[in-house]
Amino acid sequence: MAKKELLDNTIDPNLLYLEEAQSKASAAQRKAPPKKTKDFRIIGKDTPRIDGRKIVTGRAPFINDIRLRGMLVGKILRSPHPHAEIVSIDLSKAKSLPGVKDVIELDNKKVQFIGNRVAAVAAIDDQTAEKALKLIKVEYKPLPYVVSVEKSREEGAPQVHEKRPNVEKVRDEKRGDIEVGFQEAEVVLERTYQTPIEIHHPAETHGSIAKWEGNRLIVWDSTQAIHNVRNGLARSLGIPTGRVTVIKRYMGGGFGSKLGLNAHTVIAALLARETGRPVKIMLSRKENSLCVGNRPTSLQTYKGGVKKDGSLTAISLRNYTTGGVNRGDRCSEPLLDVYRCPNLQVKEYTVYTNMGGSRAMRAPGHVQGTFGLEDFLDELANAIGMDPLELRKKNYTTKNRGDTGVPYSSKGLAKCYDLGAEKIGWHRRNTIPGEGEGKIRRGLGMASQIWWGAGVPETLADVKLYRDGSVDVICGTQDIGCGTRTHMAVVAADTLGLDPQDITIKLGNSDYPWAPLSGGSLTTPSVAPAVRDASLKAADHLKKMATKKINVPAQDIILQDKKLFDMNNPENAISFKELASELRREAVFHGERKGLPEGFAYNSFGAHFVEVEVDTETGKIKVIKVVAAHESGQIINTKTAESQVIGGVTQGVSATLFEQRIVDDTTGTLVNPNWRDYKIATSMDIPEIIAIFVNVDDQYINILGTKGLGEPPRIPIAAAIGNAVFNAIGVQIREIPMTPDKVLAALDRKEAS
Ligand code: MOS
Repeated sequence: MAKKELLDNTIDPNLLYLEEAQSKASAAQRKAPPKKTKDFRIIGKDTPRIDGRKIVTGRAPFINDIRLRGMLVGKILRSPHPHAEIVSIDLSKAKSLPGVKDVIELDNKKVQFIGNRVAAVAAIDDQTAEKALKLIKVEYKPLPYVVSVEKSREEGAPQVHEKRPNVEKVRDEKRGDIEVGFQEAEVVLERTYQTPIEIHHPAETHGSIAKWEGNRLIVWDSTQAIHNVRNGLARSLGIPTGRVTVIKRYMGGGFGSKLGLNAHTVIAALLARETGRPVKIMLSRKENSLCVGNRPTSLQTYKGGVKKDGSLTAISLRNYTTGGVNRGDRCSEPLLDVYRCPNLQVKEYTVYTNMGGSRAMRAPGHVQGTFGLEDFLDELANAIGMDPLELRKKNYTTKNRGDTGVPYSSKGLAKCYDLGAEKIGWHRRNTIPGEGEGKIRRGLGMASQIWWGAGVPETLADVKLYRDGSVDVICGTQDIGCGTRTHMAVVAADTLGLDPQDITIKLGNSDYPWAPLSGGSLTTPSVAPAVRDASLKAADHLKKMATKKINVPAQDIILQDKKLFDMNNPENAISFKELASELRREAVFHGERKGLPEGFAYNSFGAHFVEVEVDTETGKIKVIKVVAAHESGQIINTKTAESQVIGGVTQGVSATLFEQRIVDDTTGTLVNPNWRDYKIATSMDIPEIIAIFVNVDDQYINILGTKGLGEPPRIPIAAAIGNAVFNAIGVQIREIPMTPDKVLAALDRKEAS
């Protein structure tokens, strides 16, 4: 039963887990007393990746590079129907093909989308496995289906789930009185914004290798969540958790699509158990397009009222989202959290269709909601003739949920506004949108960002000191490409007075101390404080040992330059190595990420400022420059932090201008399941990107005061581009991707008005 539940991925558990983790983290007790700011030696500076050379020289092993003796290739047969009953399956021909080691039926009685799994094979090589798939005979009884949001919402549409209506309300929230707010308004506008399905498309497709050693299972997985995959495998195979080890070494991206246990991983384990040999399953680019997630659509209608002085009086949002067979994304958090508007009404609906399901994708919901909200704010600002930055400054709040919740205590957003505006040269914008002349029009736009991301309490990490003076930092987190190995080394090295290269990092193994999934921008703010805690304990132990050697009280001892010395007399010192040799045995110090101190701003903030050029004859948008100002607390490593910003902005530029999944409305066939037809930005499309990290006063020595930065840079970029285009041509595009046809249509709309 459990196995079937896990194999039936129609309602994605990952997204729910992520939300749960985040709300738990936000409710975490805030007990530890705040400490004073401290100057760090390595933390907050530029540190090159400790594994950078290994990655760029191709020596870092990804799933496809891992080869085990006797390993078989696993492949999955997938449904060609968007909705059908499986009447019968005949595996006999496939089974008798030479080289085929196993063929299994997956216990689906029904398929709900094209790409839904039906059966699987294990064979000696790719070609044999492919051939075997073709020999499996499946008799389907096609059922009525619906693949478009519009049709799914119609009365009498084919029902996607037996026990659920096609349209379900996923949020209904209110603040104040919306009608009163509209009466107070001097200007009221209503606008609709739309975003398409975007596919994660990590460079490395999903892949797993499963190997049994007696009754123990070892899985190498390209995953953002080794512990969740381990737990899921144990549950679905009915074996004790401790008998499953999940290893993740290097990874070519996930962006949310690799957040939890995938069916192909369970299938690899089943095939490996049946055949007694290791089995590798790598998904193809097409499978990646069909069935391992997407960013759901949004169709957001805002009605908003504003006074001529720029105070927002009321905003209502109605949103329809679809992620396919599972729930889409709610997108109203930015509306509920960033601005003070006293009267709000939010109604969000998810619409089911017979398409592969969604997964959390880099800032799920916030990306879509920020595009709608922030572009709408520019339309309101334009309607009252106000500078859109001034409108934000007038309305942003430092309290959670408008003026109702706890204060953020962070001046982060205000600083992002000021520093970003200065850097881009905000005064250069068109005072009246579209006032420029000529074929090529320039414009400037901006947008605000909010995200969670103060990490998860109870994250564990160990520091191990050896008698030869070497140091391990051990944590069951995973480096999903962001530089986690490096930031762990930076924190330990800074605390222990060593260099990052002196530290041996052990991560990516579920037998190591627990850490949360790497999603929701949780990794650094969860792991770094745990490593800090363990390192501080190790440092304390060493200081106590050193007091006897150099005759100085522990509180006067400093660890720096691979030595421990008297702060009042640096000559009085003992080397780290010599002191370590005095350890009776190797010593392990357990660290934990504690609750957050009172007053610590839980959210991260940012503002993007963008300059664009729009060709009014071809409709082509060229993004020239992006200034991305972020307040994510204490930055651990500015080099990898900057990489996050460049990556997020790049992914955002690509999505804003090019990306969308295209589906044939009548057959449910994916038209662009490859990198030729699914358009992605190239290096020629990427602007100059300037990252600014805003330091705020709430830095705390022991917990480091660091917040997530993985998702934030992806959040405001589309809205800021949209607003820059508005500033350039005087009309909002209101729909992503902003392809030339939409720009030309918008210009026509402007002419006509
Ligand atoms: Mo992210 S969408 O939490 O990997």
